[in-house]
Amino acid sequence: MRKIPFSPPDLSQAEIDEVVKVLKSGWITTGPETKLFENKIAEYCHVNKAVCLSSQTSCAELTLRILGIGPGDEVIVPAYTYTATASIIYHVGAKPVMIDCKCGSYEMDYDKMEAAINRNTKAVIAVDLAGVICDYDRIYEAVERKKNVFNPKNELQEKFGRVFVIADGAHAFGARRHGKMCGEIADFTNFSFHAVKNMTTAEGGAAVHRLHDGIDEEDMYKQYMLLSLHGQTKDAYQKNKVAAWEYDVVDTQYKCNMPDVLAALGVAQLSRYEKILERRHELIKLYNEEFKDLPIQVLNHCDETHRSSGHLYFVRFIGKDAEYRNRFYNMMAENGIMCNVHFKPLPMLSAYSKKGFRITDFPNAYNMHKNQLTLPLNTTLSDDDAWYIISTFKQCINTLK
Ligand SMILES: Cc1ncc(COP(=O)(O)O)c(C=O)c1O
Repeated sequence: MRKIPFSPPDLSQAEIDEVVKVLKSGWITTGPETKLFENKIAEYCHVNKAVCLSSQTSCAELTLRILGIGPGDEVIVPAYTYTATASIIYHVGAKPVMIDCKCGSYEMDYDKMEAAINRNTKAVIAVDLAGVICDYDRIYEAVERKKNVFNPKNELQEKFGRVFVIADGAHAFGARRHGKMCGEIADFTNFSFHAVKNMTTAEGGAAVHRLHDGIDEEDMYKQYMLLSLHGQTKDAYQKNKVAAWEYDVVDTQYKCNMPDVLAALGVAQLSRYEKILERRHELIKLYNEEFKDLPIQVLNHCDETHRSSGHLYFVRFIGKDAEYRNRFYNMMAENGIMCNVHFKPLPMLSAYSKKGFRITDFPNAYNMHKNQLTLPLNTTLSDDDAWYIISTFKQCINTLK
């Protein structure tokens, strides 16, 4: 029997060589390799600046802090996402406002999202789930229409004059929509390079933003640096220069920088990334073609308007319940294939039910979740592996009633 793990990292000799180069360089924490990686990410995403930190979560949390979002503020998030999208809102002392899915879709109900915008709302965080970019045209339309209720509390908020649009792009590095890259669509986008992501640094993330009159890019970059390094005015690399030891700590802050030894993985991964995306889409096409007559719903990963990052292959078993999905998951596992479920809507998690959220208030999210399964989709899969997944999947469909 074949053994197919869900999402092992795709690491080649190029990654090993780049990491060894950094290991031998005499500098392994944040320094020239991280700066090189940041420049390459910015170029790839068609933006001027990128910041690399320890995770998407740290990038997103620091983004909220830099925007001045805190106690008394509300941030709108979908109920159908991973905890990191919403937990950061609690970390900064603000209140998450959760929105149900649109009926039959994984995306937020944008009418409900627009209705939820009030005087306290400072940001909407949309999630580019599975690597498919959300309908930001609709989100921008909503925040523009609600400009009149926006209540700015600092200079940056005043300059934007409306609710910030933030993308949780944890899944979506390399996705594009209407000719734009993920990263140049929302006002602020935060990517994940966690071990299971398309492009990995083992752990890591990047923050990027669109150009806006209100943003001084150099100053914003400095703020990310300060907030990610104890509020210290110079990092270890800058201090390691002749006559440069002197520094100040201007605030009591976090420590969530990306070390060079991990950035090296990213530099090598990025140089292979377009090929990685092509292979992911080749596999998606094969799955789509083979599954087209089955009673399942799949995501639209590519058409004339967009191409996703091909991060996750979601299926929904039409008319089935959680019990069927779980039996399906087990049967795939008995055949050596590790699937996954993305996600348990936040109100189903104890952390959020303790805060008063109830899944009964999010019926559409529950209906999307109850019969959802994610199949292995990654670039370590051979064609034979993919055909094995396809034939086992069909066998499970025929066997399970
Ligand atoms: C939708 C979503 N947002 C955020 C994150 C957090 O990413 P990281 O682990 O890099 O902090 C994840 C992680 O899987 C995710 O799936």
